[in-house]
Formats: sequence, structure tokens, C-alpha cells
Amino acid sequence: MKIATTINGERKEADVWEGESLLFALRERFGLPGSKNACEQGECGSCSVLLDGELVCACLVLAAQADGHDVVTVEGLVDGDGLHPVQDAFVETGAVQCGFCTPGLVVATAALLERNPDPTDDEIREALSGNLCRCTGYQKIFDAVRLAAGS
Ligand code: FES
Ligand code: FES
Repeated sequence: MKIATTINGERKEADVWEGESLLFALRERFGLPGSKNACEQGECGSCSVLLDGELVCACLVLAAQADGHDVVTVEGLVDGDGLHPVQDAFVETGAVQCGFCTPGLVVATAALLERNPDPTDDEIREALSGNLCRCTGYQKIFDAVRLAAGS
């Protein structure tokens, strides 16, 4: 089936099969590998994207469900030629090790700060509870979120 969706502000079309995930379509059809494929079961958050402004796991959304809707991936968060403030904060605090979780955490953090620019620690924990990182121990991720919130 054919779908037409707005991805990072640009209208895109593709032929997808009915059972295909949005994550697969983003990576394999639309050339956007930023959203990572780690578990494909909605457990890790590494595939987090915004669908009509709502944070979703792209592995749990059918590509067909994005037809006629608006998708923002980590690639769409860049600010012109520069990084998004959340991306800068992750770099500055050293919150990236293997980096596999980072795109999802950046999207989830940007979504959090958009709706709540000054979150408490509990609100940060709650907002990022769907994003797993097996490298950092989370402290530097917290530091990055706090830095981005203050920037
Ligand atoms: S790959 Fe989607 S939640 Fe893990
Ligand atoms: S930096 Fe490796 S999983 Fe988070």
C-alpha cells in the first residue's frame, strides 16, 4: 500500500506492506537510520519518534498508521547546521557511550522539555522511564537533561 506522510517537515511517499513498522519504513525506505532498532518490542525506547507531537516507539507503530500524519525523528531535531540544545547537552555532559540509546533519549528529552521546560528529577525519571541505557548508569543522562533544561 502507498502511504504519504510528513517526515521532519517534508512530505514523503512510499510503498509499504501492511505489517511493516514505522521504524522499518523510516530506516529502510526513507533513509533515516537515526531511530535505532534494538528490541522491536516497545521495551527500550531507542526507536522513539514524535507522531503528531506525541512520543511513540516507532517499532510499535505501523507505517500505515503514519499515513497522513506528521513524524519527527532525531534527524529532524537539528537546528539548521547546528545541533539541537538537547543534542549539545548530551555531548557536553558525556552522556553518550555506545550511543545506541541516544537518539531515543534525545527525542524523549526534547519532548519532555517542550511540554515542561523545568522538570523535577521525578518528572525526568518518569519521562525517560521508557528509554533504556545499558552503558551510562543514567547519571550523565540526568546531567544532560538538566543542562538542556537550563539552556
Ligand atoms: S526498538 Fe522500539 S522500543 Fe526498542
Ligand atoms: S550509551 Fe550505550 S546503551 Fe546508552
